[in-house]
Amino acid sequence: MSAEVLITRPLPAPGASLLEAAGFRVQMNTHDRPITDTELRAGVASADALLCMLTDRIDAELLDAAPNLRVIANYAVGFDNINVAEARRRGIEVTTTPDVLTEATADLTWALMLGAARQLGAGERMVRAGQWQGWAPDQLLGQPVAGRVLGIIGMGAIGQAVARRAHGFGMAVRYFNRRRVDPTIETALGAQFLPLDELLATSDFVSLHAPRNEQSHRIIDAAALARMKSTAVLINTGRGALIDEAALVVALREGRIAAAGLDVFEREPELAEGLIELDNVVLAPHLGSASTEARASMVRLCSENIIEVLGGRPALTPAPQPS
Ligand code: DGY
Repeated sequence: MSAEVLITRPLPAPGASLLEAAGFRVQMNTHDRPITDTELRAGVASADALLCMLTDRIDAELLDAAPNLRVIANYAVGFDNINVAEARRRGIEVTTTPDVLTEATADLTWALMLGAARQLGAGERMVRAGQWQGWAPDQLLGQPVAGRVLGIIGMGAIGQAVARRAHGFGMAVRYFNRRRVDPTIETALGAQFLPLDELLATSDFVSLHAPRNEQSHRIIDAAALARMKSTAVLINTGRGALIDEAALVVALREGRIAAAGLDVFEREPELAEGLIELDNVVLAPHLGSASTEARASMVRLCSENIIEVLGGRPALTPAPQPS
């Protein structure tokens, strides 16, 4: 009997075609909503491979219900939804989708930087509400971007792609990372390593690209926000839990920082209380990798990882070991 793959949500093109062409039996949640816990438990009972979303929680309890599972291909580069150590302890490989979404996520980061700095959200809401009375000399004045200081927290592939774009804006790039990156990368990016507190105090833009883990959990809390400039703009396209969202709402409301651009939230799709009422925040619905090209490449990479592992070969892009 051919191996069975469970896909937890309908995928964009090329969909399940690579897996079907490889001869696997594909079971797919065909509803356009996250698979329920009950459906997921029932689905993994007979699955050899699981192609899952960042909204699916894959913990020890779920793995108990998946006796045949050999590979979990996460349709995301982040993998904080999966207990990787527990899966690997059971001999189940876990894979992610690095690189193919780097440029798309860096582009979206810049969309939020520019939009938040120049009050694009507030302007759009004003125009759409029919409240625009015409040009005015002091209307929606924002923060300049060109020539300013960009502070990047998390200098992996996406952080580096964001830094590359900063050169076009003549920005000074500074970064904080758990480990300093290779000096050749620092030189190529013109990026200066700074301790976190110093980076927060001196940056005009702070952009978050760290993976979510114990060290990065709420790395931007009330104390971190207090260190930032009152004119600073905070951007998050990483994971919602990197920010203490309640503290951010207070900081934005009281003008302790100028603005924020957020693509990710701790309890998606729920928003922190008070966030939606604020005009100085641009809110996006987790669109980081949402370009047609990136999402198609993510589908291909997930499929290829499954084909490799079920074929008895090493995964192409295994989830990194926690360090
Ligand atoms: C990821 O891949 O982790 C992104 O958050 C998906 O958009």
